[in-house]
Amino acid sequence: MRLVSSRHLKPGTRVAREVRSGPVGTAPLLLSGTLLTQSMCRRLRALGVAAVWVDDELGDGIEPLEALNPETRDRAEQEVTATLAQARERLASGQQLDSRDVERLRDVAASIAHEISGLPEAVFALSEMRTADAYTHEHSVRVTTLGLLIAARHWREHGWTDHRGRQRYDRIPQRMTQLGFGLLVHDIGKLAIPRDVLDKPGRLDAREWEMIKRHPEYGAAMLNHTTTSMLAISVVRFHHERWDGRGYPRGIAGRRISELARIAAVADVYDAVRSERPYKPARPAHVGVEVVQEGSGTAFDPTIVSTFRQLVMPYPAGHELTLEDGSRGVVAAVDPSRPYQPRVRFVDDDGSIREFDIDLRPGMPRMPVVRV
Ligand SMILES: [Fe+2]
Repeated sequence: MRLVSSRHLKPGTRVAREVRSGPVGTAPLLLSGTLLTQSMCRRLRALGVAAVWVDDELGDGIEPLEALNPETRDRAEQEVTATLAQARERLASGQQLDSRDVERLRDVAASIAHEISGLPEAVFALSEMRTADAYTHEHSVRVTTLGLLIAARHWREHGWTDHRGRQRYDRIPQRMTQLGFGLLVHDIGKLAIPRDVLDKPGRLDAREWEMIKRHPEYGAAMLNHTTTSMLAISVVRFHHERWDGRGYPRGIAGRRISELARIAAVADVYDAVRSERPYKPARPAHVGVEVVQEGSGTAFDPTIVSTFRQLVMPYPAGHELTLEDGSRGVVAAVDPSRPYQPRVRFVDDDGSIREFDIDLRPGMPRMPVVRV
């Protein structure tokens, strides 16, 4: 199967994975196996669905590996949506997140962590982006998934560092659950910020930017310190701190930022680049990878970035790719040790399908190098 931008969908193509545009729990817009009609293609574009997985000859045999199965992802999104709705009401009356909500979200975090621990060493394409209006809960679940993937690999290879500076390899499952919970609610403080400021299409003025910069502290205050671990709260409070100390709200630097928050920062920025927002379009995976790489040592902890680079491929299998000469192909496979040299399929002028290894390393000429 392959992922096709809604702009390029053609009638008669078979949908490979169900398409949803509304909140979790609502009926899917299209079921897998549906043959697209002209009016369906138009409707997908009108609803802002960015891309659809399809089964066709060009995508034959391509099996993108998802980190989460759809049931776990749906349940996680459902719980986040319900918790945020309740938190909004409680916030209006000055209360904190309820202990039952904390319990439910901790369960969700544990189930995501469990699912990830059962995965083979693999290269991930995170779930496709859906529509901009489903952003909040989808973003939380994707950031949680990516953050836990990074942590699982990072702690397996390097351990975690305790307050005495010792490398430790124990209690990793517990830390995964705490990290997962923190990631699920990392932006909960945004509930205290007016919607029109959060979604403002233009530039924020100084007063609005000051409001946005308070969301980590608002979020930390919404979590009850007796029911939520300090590790999870550190994710909420410090996910916008930068390695070089130029972040917010405190401007702390380096290892003074909790390791969990340093992992959260990488996952959060990658997903923000990949997502469509009212003020910016979604960018492809390679742009997300480049933004994280460019921030290594300034915005982000370099060792976390290096773990991220082993996991997230700039050109994931099944994704479309357009070369500088305008020819469009689909990534058939990628070797994790050579992430910028994917094998790409193209349709020739005579309609036949060919595969090439393409060298997309920055600075290299964008030409096919090997014919397969
Ligand atoms: Fe945030």
